[in-house]
Amino acid sequence: QLNDLAVAAGLKYFGTAGQEGTITSDTTYRNIINNVHEFGQLTPENGMKWDATEGQPGKFTFQSGDIVAGVAKSNGQLLRCHTLVWYSQLPSWVSNGSWNRNTLQSVIESHISNVMGHYKGQCYAWDVVNEAISDDAQGNYRDSIFFKTFKTDYFPIAFNAAKKADPNAKLYYNDYNLEYNGAKTERALELVKLIKAAGAPIDGVGFQAHMTVGGTPSRSAMATLLKRFTALGVEVAYTELDIAHKNQPSSSSVQAQQATDYANMVGSCVDVDGCVGVTIWGFIDKYNWIQNGNAAIFDSSFNKKPAYSAISSVL
Ligand code: XIL
Repeated sequence: QLNDLAVAAGLKYFGTAGQEGTITSDTTYRNIINNVHEFGQLTPENGMKWDATEGQPGKFTFQSGDIVAGVAKSNGQLLRCHTLVWYSQLPSWVSNGSWNRNTLQSVIESHISNVMGHYKGQCYAWDVVNEAISDDAQGNYRDSIFFKTFKTDYFPIAFNAAKKADPNAKLYYNDYNLEYNGAKTERALELVKLIKAAGAPIDGVGFQAHMTVGGTPSRSAMATLLKRFTALGVEVAYTELDIAHKNQPSSSSVQAQQATDYANMVGSCVDVDGCVGVTIWGFIDKYNWIQNGNAAIFDSSFNKKPAYSAISSVL
């Protein structure tokens, strides 16, 4: 099974996002999530985000975040904690507030110390900053309330606060569309250097890897790209891997291409020393965040798709 194979292949884990509501409502789903041979690592799909943990200023709630954290704890699975500073799923009191540097810095520091404090010692890694780079041609920093207020100074502020809150968690920058060696990839490399130049800690870069069938780079191109990051002294991981083929029928040829694409992505992590593991963003089409995307490795009836054995074959 996938985690056992991944560990034998030298990775720390093969994991999945776990959906809080579905864990509670669907026994078959829950049993697969609980199988540590399949998934040695879990990420909460929504429960630790800002809107779930601090919907009102200073009022912290952990009911949803505790669901996946609790499953991981009782099974002894690694937990990737997700996410602290992100423009999305951000309550309007933050995104629409009228802030200056001092007031927004206090808000960020309080959010990080409370949320990370609650999960202290439980998280293998935290996605401290998520999706701070836009998809425009220049790969400009995303014009969030954080960037508007601080320019890039919120990166060291957030990573310093995270280090203080849980010194043993690996601190990650996490983003998508870093897989194509474009402007966004260059900006992410700059971001890592900028955090280090400010004297702040960063341990890892998470490649979300939300991909499309037929659109994944080759295994060797991906390995080369990952090495550009490990050369800066950070570890890397695929943190939200899925490969969708929306608007295509789920024919056997499409599923075969999807299998090849999954194998290339996972294989590239095996090929790179500093690539610690792979997390898929949900394991089953039925509950996937991309509706009708057929992006996962189990079909909606809990059958393994060709992608499952293709991944096994590179581990
Ligand atoms: C997604 C969840 O899967 C959905 O359930 C939710 O409605 C929106 O967010 N990048 C991320 C993840 O970092 O947190 C996102 O998760 C998918 C894109």
